[in-house]
Amino acid sequence: MNIRKAKKSDINSMHQIIKINSPRYPKKLALQELNEMFSDSLHSPTFIVVEDKNEIRAFGGFSRSGADDMICDIFWINTNLEYSGKGFGRKLMEDIINRIKKEKSPKVKMAMLCTKIPNYFKKLGFEKLGKKYDRDYILMKRTIN
Ligand SMILES: CC(C)(COP(=O)(O)OP(=O)(O)OC[C@H]1O[C@@H](n2cnc3c(N)ncnc32)[C@H](O)[C@@H]1OP(=O)(O)O)[C@@H](O)C(=O)NCCC(=O)NCCS
Repeated sequence: MNIRKAKKSDINSMHQIIKINSPRYPKKLALQELNEMFSDSLHSPTFIVVEDKNEIRAFGGFSRSGADDMICDIFWINTNLEYSGKGFGRKLMEDIINRIKKEKSPKVKMAMLCTKIPNYFKKLGFEKLGKKYDRDYILMKRTIN
């Protein structure tokens, strides 16, 4: 297993996973969000992929928050569901948290994410911020130290 930063050539595989896991999310928008990693924008995201046997099993992204650069947002945490329950999601999240811990100038104090499955992220050290955020989504935070 190899966990690394995404390359441009991974975008298609990541997009395929999104299309299956989030069929109602606009496909063009998802593609734009993935391509944003390779743009010059101030808060361009970093996408991380978990690769096994030369295939992308899971991926997810993070970026500094536009509201406060001591906060990192985490998003698009996805496993290829043919390989769910094998620990790829956990390995991915641990790697992303470690990368966020190493961010400097300024150091990150908090990671935040928005999810429909808070129980999954609770096991990874996140806590709920309120009961509901947006429809079925719940906002969660994790202190980074
Ligand atoms: C959530 C997701 C990333 C988990 O990936 P995964 O690679 O299967 O996760 P892991 O193998 O690391 O972890 C499996 C564990 O998570 C638990 N889990 C999986 N889905 C869960 C859910 N919806 N709610 C709560 N726990 C869940 C499993 O029961 C298992 O628990 P255990 O370790 O105690 O046995 C994957 O199911 C996915 O991509 N889902 C669709 C996209 C999504 O909802 N992403 C989160 C959006 S923020």
